[in-house]
Amino acid sequence: MMRNQGYPDPGAGLRLHLNENTGGCSPRVLEAIQRLRTTDVSTYPSYSDLIRACARHFDVDPDWVLLTNGLDEGILMAAVGHIARARVHDAETIIPLPAFDPYPNSTSAVGATAVRIPPGPGFVFPTDEVIAAVTPRTRMIFLNTPSNPTGRLIPIPDLRRIAQAAPHSIVLIDEAYIEFGGASFLPELSAFSNVLVGRTFSKAYGLAGMRVGVLIGQPPSLDPVRAVTLPFNINAVAMAATIAALEDSEFLPRYATQVAESRERLYGACRRLGLEHWESAANFVMVRVGDRVGDVVDALAKRGVHVRDRSKDPATPGCIRITAGLLAHTDAAIEALESVMAGRAVR
Ligand SMILES: Cc1ncc(COP(=O)(O)O)c(C=O)c1O
Repeated sequence: MMRNQGYPDPGAGLRLHLNENTGGCSPRVLEAIQRLRTTDVSTYPSYSDLIRACARHFDVDPDWVLLTNGLDEGILMAAVGHIARARVHDAETIIPLPAFDPYPNSTSAVGATAVRIPPGPGFVFPTDEVIAAVTPRTRMIFLNTPSNPTGRLIPIPDLRRIAQAAPHSIVLIDEAYIEFGGASFLPELSAFSNVLVGRTFSKAYGLAGMRVGVLIGQPPSLDPVRAVTLPFNINAVAMAATIAALEDSEFLPRYATQVAESRERLYGACRRLGLEHWESAANFVMVRVGDRVGDVVDALAKRGVHVRDRSKDPATPGCIRITAGLLAHTDAAIEALESVMAGRAVR
């Protein structure tokens, strides 16, 4: 398989391995792209319309908004701005497990040390352990709610406690999947000058191919990140696409309703198959399929269904993660899973 910029591309089939929107984006997005003029392409972008649209959408001051090339870039730039740029040599970051790869990767990119916190039983969030790990060297704490890959939420009071326990550290609350369930920390943000909330248009809005994310926070948290972010990091096509996506207010609730029903169908299939799984507030469900995860993932792929193998992560042994999207896609995945788990296709 070709390396595809470091991330394998599984090729044709049903893509349930990256938590994308399986139904595509709003048609209004393509209409907006078609309306672009030649000069929109020939000039460097001006971001004020999109920043204003985001500020309105997230109900914050425009100065609290930083557009990033996907939230991935926001995660890396937060580490660059708060650790590398500040020349902190003995910095630590706190990373509760299981974790999204860019947290440890960004930590090592800026020469910091990751302090990893194992999950509680049933993947209950280890709030007390995170607080106990805070030291004067802690510069960033990566929190992800709902969590990729478990789908579990971190309760708002726990987020508050962690932010209060580490006033000298940036607390990055990654809400990449919050549109699918759970409460956002955004209404709390005015009380916390050390918190950055990360959002993305890749998931609920179906714009993963456009690469647009947002960091939201008070100037003391955001400005050091702004200082290291490249000035034209979002392209003009992505900008037009995101404005159009925000204008289509019916798209997201319609999709989120299907995702919720898809999760229920996946839980039902897991119960029928006797597979351990975890209730999720996101657009995916983590399922423990046992020792032969690689065989199960390969057998599903042979049936045209790509899911994520989570078994290499010691925090999620024996697990796969299945994206919950359009009902027809979920039903196809369930049919493939049932047939594979019945042993017909696993060898
Ligand atoms: C937890 C989490 N954060 C951030 C992202 C990054 O999203 P993007 O860079 O597409 O905005 C993802 C994508 O998979 C994710 O799972």
